[in-house]
Amino acid sequence: MKLLRSTVVLAALAALCSLGRAADPTAHLIIDAARTGPVINKNIYGHFAEHLGRCIYEGLWVGENSPIPNTKGYRNDVVAALKNLQVPVLRWPGGCFADEYHWRDGIGPREKRPAMINTHWGGVVENNHFGTHEFLNFCEMMGIEPYVCVNVGSGTVQEEMEWIEYMTSDADSPMANLRRANGRDQPWKVHYVAVGNESWGCGGNMTAQFYADNYRRYNTFVKNYGTNRIQRIAGGPNDFNYEWTQTLMKSAAKQMNGLSLHYYTRTTTGWPPKGSATEFDETQWINVLVNTLKMEELVTNHSAIMDQYDPQKKVGLVVDEWGTWYEKTPGSRQGFLEQQNSLRDALVAALNLHIFQAHADRVTMANIAQFINVLQAMILTDKEKMVITPTYHVFEMFKVHQDATSLSVALSSPDYVLGDAKIPAVSASASRDKNGRIHLSLTNADPAKPVTVTCTLNGAVAKSVSGRVLTAPAMNAHNTFVAPHTVEPAAFGGAKLDGGSLSVTLPAKSVVVLELL
Ligand code: AHR
Repeated sequence: MKLLRSTVVLAALAALCSLGRAADPTAHLIIDAARTGPVINKNIYGHFAEHLGRCIYEGLWVGENSPIPNTKGYRNDVVAALKNLQVPVLRWPGGCFADEYHWRDGIGPREKRPAMINTHWGGVVENNHFGTHEFLNFCEMMGIEPYVCVNVGSGTVQEEMEWIEYMTSDADSPMANLRRANGRDQPWKVHYVAVGNESWGCGGNMTAQFYADNYRRYNTFVKNYGTNRIQRIAGGPNDFNYEWTQTLMKSAAKQMNGLSLHYYTRTTTGWPPKGSATEFDETQWINVLVNTLKMEELVTNHSAIMDQYDPQKKVGLVVDEWGTWYEKTPGSRQGFLEQQNSLRDALVAALNLHIFQAHADRVTMANIAQFINVLQAMILTDKEKMVITPTYHVFEMFKVHQDATSLSVALSSPDYVLGDAKIPAVSASASRDKNGRIHLSLTNADPAKPVTVTCTLNGAVAKSVSGRVLTAPAMNAHNTFVAPHTVEPAAFGGAKLDGGSLSVTLPAKSVVVLELL
C-alpha cells in the first residue's frame, strides 16, 4: 500500500513535471517533515589539509616571525575565515604525503627538526616546521576534530603506536613524557585515525588482501589511552574498485569504524586531469556535473557491498578525498595542484553534499580536497592576500545541515540536456535542526534557464521563508584577489509561501538555501 502510494505520487509528479517542461521548466518537491531520516553527521562537512604545495605552508601556517599577521604562526585572515565555516573535522598530514611522513621529524624545537624531500608534491624540501603540535594545537584552538592519517606505506608499527601514545596518553609513559618535554602537558583528544592512505597506489601499491592483512596488524596497535577513544578508518577503494571494498569488508569489517573512498571529479577520464578551472564552455560545464553525479553511483554501490558484511551499518563510509581536479593554474608550480574555483565548483560542492546527506545512514564523514590553495579549495592566498572561493560559500551556506535530522524529499525535476549529456536540473536536500528549523537546499544546474520548484510541505507548517542564493552571470565566474566578491551569497527573494505551499524560482546556475519557520 505504502509502495503503491509513493508510486502514484511520483507518477503524478512526473506528469506535472512534463507538463511544465514545454514552457517554463518546473520541478516538484514533496518534503515530508514527519518522515525523518538519519542525523546528518556534521563530519560530512570535513576538510583535508596535506603537506602539498601551499596548503599548509603559506596557506595556513606562515610561522611566528612572518610579516603576515598571524597568531602563533597561523595566519589571522585564514583563521577568521575558517571560524565562520564551522569546520568539524580536518584530515592531516596526507594524502600520499602521509605514507612518507615520520612524525618524530616534526616535534621539538623547529630549528632542529630534520628536513625531508616531499617526493610526491613538487620534490620540495619539507622543513617539518608544521608538525604534530602545530596541527593539534590548531585543531584545539578552532574546535576542530583532528583526523590523523598514520604511515603504513613506509612506517613501522612501532612508529605508529608511539605516535598514538605521544598524542593521546596521559600516563607517566615514555612518549607522553617526550610530549611534555616538548611543551605540551595534557594529551590531545584524537578521535579519528586513518590507517594508511591509498594503499593501492602511492601508499604502497598493495593488493587488496595484502593491505587488509596489514590493516588488521597496524590497527591492532592503535590503542585507546586514558579516556581517548579512537574511530579507526581503513584505507578504502579508489572510485570504482569494488573488489577492494569487498576484500576489506570481508577481511576486516569487525576491526574498523570506517572505510574510506576517494573520488575526484574531472572533466574527462584519465590522468593527468585535463581542462581549465576557469576557461570552459557549456560542454565542459555539464561534463563536470555529469562526472560529479557519479558519486551517487559510487556511494550506493560501495554501501551495498558494505551491507553484505555490515547490515547494521556500524562501519561508516568515509569519503575522505573528493572534489574537482583540473589542470593546474597556468604559471603555478608543477606538483602543487593549484587551481581556481568557479561557480561550477560551487555546484559540484552542493551536489556532492546532497548525495552524502541522502546517504547519511552510511556516509559518516567526507573531506573535500583540499583546505587552502590546493584542488577544490575553500581559500586561496597570495603572500598577504586572501580570497574565499565559491566552494567556501557553499560550505558556509550549508552548515545549517550539520548534525540536523534529514527529512524525506521526493523530487521530480526537469532534465538539463546538452548534446548527449543529461542530468536532472534540480537537486534538493532538507533537514530539521535541533531548534526545529527546517532548511532546504536546492541547486539548479541549468546555466541558462531558471526553474520553478513547487514544494509541498507535509508534516510541518511554515509561516515564513527566507534564504540566500549563490549565483553569477557567467558559468566560470570566480573570485580573485583583485575582484574578491564576484561570487558570493546574496539575500534570496525567489521563495514564496502561500498557505501550505512553497514556490521557489531558482535562477539559472544557482545554489539556494532556505530556512522555513
Ligand atoms: O589530494 C591529492 C592527492 O590525491 C592525495 O595526496 C592522494 O591521496 C590522492 O591521490
